[in-house]
Order: sequence, then C-alpha cells, then structure tokens
Amino acid sequence: MAADAPLTRRGFLALGAGAGLAVATGCGGGGRGAAPAALPLQPGPMTLDLAGHEAATWGYGTVPGPEIRLRAGDVLRVRLDNGLPEGTTVHWHGLAPPNAMDGVPGVTQDPVGPGGTFLYEFRTPVAGSFMYHAHVGVQLDRGLYGPLVVEPRDEPLSYDGEYVLMLDDWADGVEETGPHTDHGGVPAESAVDPGAPTTVSFGGRTYPLVLVNGHPPDDPPVLEGRPGDRLRLRVMNVAADTGFRFAVAGHPLTVTHTDGMPVEPVTVDVLRLGMGERYDVLVELDRRDGAWQIGIAPEGRRGWGRAVLRYAGSPASSAPPVTAWPAELDGRPAEHADLIAVEPLALPPGRPDRVFDLTLDGTEIGGQSYPDADPLTVAEGEWVRLTLRNTGAKWHPMHLHGHHFQVLTPSGRGPVKDTVAVPARGGVVTVDFLATNPGRWLFHCHNHHHMEDGMVRLVRYGRK
Ligand code: C2O
Ligand code: CU
Repeated sequence: MAADAPLTRRGFLALGAGAGLAVATGCGGGGRGAAPAALPLQPGPMTLDLAGHEAATWGYGTVPGPEIRLRAGDVLRVRLDNGLPEGTTVHWHGLAPPNAMDGVPGVTQDPVGPGGTFLYEFRTPVAGSFMYHAHVGVQLDRGLYGPLVVEPRDEPLSYDGEYVLMLDDWADGVEETGPHTDHGGVPAESAVDPGAPTTVSFGGRTYPLVLVNGHPPDDPPVLEGRPGDRLRLRVMNVAADTGFRFAVAGHPLTVTHTDGMPVEPVTVDVLRLGMGERYDVLVELDRRDGAWQIGIAPEGRRGWGRAVLRYAGSPASSAPPVTAWPAELDGRPAEHADLIAVEPLALPPGRPDRVFDLTLDGTEIGGQSYPDADPLTVAEGEWVRLTLRNTGAKWHPMHLHGHHFQVLTPSGRGPVKDTVAVPARGGVVTVDFLATNPGRWLFHCHNHHHMEDGMVRLVRYGRK
C-alpha cells in the first residue's frame, strides 16, 4: 500500500504501513505533570509484503518501524520489549543522549535478551531528522529501523506538507532470484559513476532490492501535493551497504539540513547519501500537474528504487514507468563545500586541542581493528579534530555517536553532521567536534559489513 494523503503543516505522515507515534513520548505536548507512559517498541519476526511477495524479516512491527516524533526539549521515553530470538539494543542515530542511553551492546549496555525489556529515557534538546535502529551485529540489515524526528519549538521554515523517506538496500526473503528481484532494475552501467564508491556485495550478501519506506519499485510510495505547494522531504539512508543518489524528476531540491542540522539553503539537482546520512530538502511544486518520478540510484551497483510525486487530481494514468530515470540524477550534487552551517560549532579561536590522523580501510581505522583497538582518548571540553584518509578502494561513511561534528571546508563554516562519507582512493575529510558529552562513544564506518569486520574505534573521556 502507498500512503497518499497530504498532510498539514503541523501534522506528520509515516509513509510506511505503520502509524506514527507522535507526542506519546513527549512531555512538551501537554502539561508538566506525571510522565507519560513509555512508548513500546517491539522488535520481532514478521513478514513484509513486497508488492505481493511475502518476505520474512525482523522488524518493529512494520518496516520502517513506527515514526517517533518529538519536539525539541521533550523527553524520549521508549520501552524496548524484545520479541526477537536473540539479544538486541536500540541506537538513536544522530542524537547525543547520555552515554548509558546510546544503545551499544558491550559498550553502553548489555544486549537485552529475548523476552527482556529496557527503558530508554532522555531529553532531546536538539531538533532534526534522525533515525533509530538496532545495534547488535547486522540486525539493522533486516527491518529493524525507523525514523525519529525532533521538531523545533518554532519552525523557521514554511512548507505545506512533509514526508520522511527511508532508503534501504534489501535482501531478506528475496535473496534467491525470485519474481521481484528482476523488477525495476536498470542496467548496471547507468548506475555507475566512475568516481563513485564501489559497493559490491560483502560476505556473499547481495541486495536485490532498494526499498523506499519498505516499498519496492513495483509498489512505490506516493507523495501528494497541490500545485504551488512546498514540500519538505526528510531523506534518510538506512542501508547497510549502499550509497544512493536521490533526485525528483522536473523538480530541483533545496537542501536545508544535513544530518538534521540547518545549512544555508542551496539548490541542487541530486543528493548523494552515504549510509547513515540524512538530508532535508524543500521541493516547490511549481509544475501544473502530473506524477513525477523520485529516482533512487545505488552508487556503483545494480538496482533501483523509487517513489512518486503526484500532483493532487492528476489521473492515475500519468504514473511514470517503473524505471524512468530522472535526468537530475546525473545533475549537480550537493558537495560539502556548498554547504554552510547556520549554527556552526562554538569552536574556540586557535587550534584544536587534539588531532587524530586516521587512515581508513575496510577493516581498520588508524591501522587498528576493533575490538583489538585502543580507544581514542580525549579530555572533556577539548576541541578534537579527526582527519580521515581513505587509502582503499571502497567508500566509507564514518559515523560518530553522541556528538555533532563540523566538516572542515574552505568557507570555515562547513556543515554540521554526524556521518560523513570519505571518498575512495585517497579521499580526505577533516571534522572537528567538541568533547562535551563524556562517555564511551563508537566511531565507526556505517557500512555494517565494514563495521562487523572491525572498522570501529571508541572515543573515550570522563567528566573533569
Ligand atoms: Cu547508526 Cu553506530 O550507528
Ligand atoms: Cu566502510
């Protein structure tokens, strides 16, 4: 099924099968009385309908899981009830909670065993587009993920409707060549960008499908709007092993946020999203009518995902063909250098207190492979700089838990993010962060196979 109801400015829409879980977890919607009941999050085995093919997977009831939506300053209060046959945890990707709430097994908590429960509870002062996902092994590679949106108290943007789009590479229940794995494919050559990451299959796992909010190309989610509307899209790459390009046919994208953090608006044709990255964009519905392809192209590998942008009242016959390739996919992307933080980190004058120069390859960070790796030890309050040098042939989207970092760009006000893709074959990216959230935090490649193979370090510091 595809959600097709427009939503109002203060409303929200989870485009999957699941209902959203708005304010139920917040204390900001109502009074400041008794704490509201915790929202239950129940991972377990389930089936996902992929355009008529029943795929066995694990999920939080729906894929994606229920949308969690809060307002800045609310308390997130979620009770994990584990219905899986193995231990699990939930990580709040992009948020900076107290360390004990970060959901990393063996680092911040023990995995929650089958039948067990765990209460996650912390305040969410920073607005943005985030995600939640399981953080045990490669559970995220299944359907154990969902969107987490924190709205600002006063929204500075004006728009008429909003959609969250979660992009995923998918293998569960379709790994054998089945009726759906050939659908919606595009020739591999057209998906390959010579400078693109090479994301081939790892450990024998290939991903026959690209899903958008749990939907394969044959059953795309439909985004609705009226002529003249401005839509806000929160685009999130939750794939285990695939970077994506994202474009809307006939409609440029105005980037307003990177990983939830505001940037000066910049209009581009196409987004490139590494695993774990999110972009918020505004789309002006300045065409008269029609149904327009939203194309999602894996970087450097075969496959195809899509959604459809439909102007209200347009006939169903105007649907774009499954594989229609928006020319914008080959257009101008948003580069780090184009992106200017609206709220740069409060870095002091002078130089960083601590600098780590780290090479990246598919199993190591700085020549060490987790768990046989030294923590990156810093001190509370320090300005820490990480220079990341990719010496290998594969692209690495690097994610830091518990902090936002600023990407160093010529403007001096590079985007504030929590996940940054470091290009293959000599790519260098430098990020700065402030050590203001003591604890033991993971820094890792968000390619889950690379992570499993040891591309993880801990950043560690205590309270002064
Ligand atoms: Cu989405 Cu350890 O991260
Ligand atoms: Cu990697």
